[in-house]
Amino acid sequence: MKSPDALPAWFRDGKFGLFIHWGPYSILGGEWQGRNIEPGDIAEWIMLRFRIPVAEYRRIAGTFNPTKFDAREWVALAKAAGMRYLVFTAKHHDGFALYRSKVSSYNIVDATPFGRDPLKEISEACAEAGIILGVYYSHREDWDHPYAYGNTWDFSTSQSSLDTMDYPKLFQRYLEEKAIPQLKELLTNYGPIGIVWFDRGMYTPEQGRAFADLVHSLQPGCLVNGRVGHYEQELLGDYQSLTDNGMPCGGIEEYWESPQTLNDTWGYSRFDQNWKTPQVVIRKLVSVVSKGGNYLLNVGPTGEGVIPPSSVNILERVGEWMKRNGESLYGASSSPFPSEPPWGCCTAKGNRLYLHVFDWPADGILKLEGLRNAVNKACLLADPSVKMRVKRDTGGPISFGLPDKPPDAIDSIIVLETAGPPDIDPLVIRPADGGSLSLDYSSAATFGRAVKRSNRKGEEDQFHISKMKGPDDGVEWHVRIDAPGPYDVLITYAAIPGWEDGRFVVQSGRQTIRGSVRSTSGWFAYRTERIGRLDLSGQVETIVRLFPERPLDHSLMYFRSLELVPSGPPR
Ligand code: GLC
Repeated sequence: MKSPDALPAWFRDGKFGLFIHWGPYSILGGEWQGRNIEPGDIAEWIMLRFRIPVAEYRRIAGTFNPTKFDAREWVALAKAAGMRYLVFTAKHHDGFALYRSKVSSYNIVDATPFGRDPLKEISEACAEAGIILGVYYSHREDWDHPYAYGNTWDFSTSQSSLDTMDYPKLFQRYLEEKAIPQLKELLTNYGPIGIVWFDRGMYTPEQGRAFADLVHSLQPGCLVNGRVGHYEQELLGDYQSLTDNGMPCGGIEEYWESPQTLNDTWGYSRFDQNWKTPQVVIRKLVSVVSKGGNYLLNVGPTGEGVIPPSSVNILERVGEWMKRNGESLYGASSSPFPSEPPWGCCTAKGNRLYLHVFDWPADGILKLEGLRNAVNKACLLADPSVKMRVKRDTGGPISFGLPDKPPDAIDSIIVLETAGPPDIDPLVIRPADGGSLSLDYSSAATFGRAVKRSNRKGEEDQFHISKMKGPDDGVEWHVRIDAPGPYDVLITYAAIPGWEDGRFVVQSGRQTIRGSVRSTSGWFAYRTERIGRLDLSGQVETIVRLFPERPLDHSLMYFRSLELVPSGPPR
């Protein structure tokens, strides 16, 4: 996992990329022999959904002749949308190569009447346009190969589970005969590659690491996404890949990217007209950047090579907005505020804050909680001559007097220049109705190497804190105590076998609770246990900290939350 500073500027500052899903499934467009894929389902999976025999799917692929394909047009659309990089499906789960592969004749040049190499043309168009090229490669799943993972309807020798290999030796042959040599072709024959976008994980950490090392050995500057390794094992790759259309609830502290669809499918489907609006796309992009990530937005061209007009319209509208407001996103860092403001989002650059107002306050007064600095200047990004009146209620929020009408219905941006780098009040945890105090990963402030991370398993709220490896790594909360007295402390975490040597400390003032980590049934099998009692008498506020008792050669646990439950009459 690379630290944000170690990531290339085009990725860390570019924020926005185009994902292109294209292949024989685009010819079918979601239908085969009169059967349609379900609404909301993903059309690039049609071969598996309908268990299309390899021979039949190969026959369909053999008709692939996208005469309307124009690489410059595709790349120009990415540029017009304000995107800085592009990821193209070189080989998807169906095993078909969208480039000239000497390793497998099952490719667009040798197996179709088209005879051209679209990846070559896209790489040239990207170089001309200054767009960084990335390639998607399905390294474990290949429905055309008898030894790979996935096709159990044609082959009795394929791997049938995502967790264990049925035939390890045969799978290794698939890796050595197809996946690894094709990856070498992609990293050797198409110039500089910015990202290799693996998908669906791998069986063992060694196999995952071997793919990452191969990429870095052939192109040291090339990024490896977070799906190179098994989804339920330690994170491999240079940055974290969220699940499809994943939107984190809190600021993850490692760099991440969220792949998202414009409708509900990655591959082209005639039946999927559930298009997002430009407003939805722009607000998702802003929200992703405000939480420290990149937005990789997908198009699914048709079998003829045409990007659907609906996608083009949306991206062009997004591009117009980016031309006026891109300054607030490119090169920006995530919001310094511990929680999201009710009216929108915030991005930052040095001592400049960009307040993204989605909901323009009816009373024309915008309130901002938690900023300690003086505000030197406040104006509209769209028209810097429009200055704001700034008022600070004693000990309270800052309020800005806004013009009657928002300059932009989708997102009106107010630029603040603060006196010095933004200095923000820590979040203060207040008791819930029943008096209990919930201290979780999203409200925590991490210190040392501890990081907030998603488990990528997809569940919206499945985030945790990892990488607590010594007493200087941990988490803390500012807690308001409305009912001083004793509190039972419950901890929720997951831990894998082998982490039982970990001991943790929960500290509040001079009080401590010490406990031993007990493994759970899996990386994400969280368990809650009562670990002791804290006496929070005679105080109105405290700082609660959790950290490992001593140095460890592994993470202490996958921490989810502490619950402090009043356990006796207030004192
Ligand atoms: C999922 C789908 C795959 C798609 C990818 C995009 O892994 O299986 O078809 O390409 O998401 O993120």
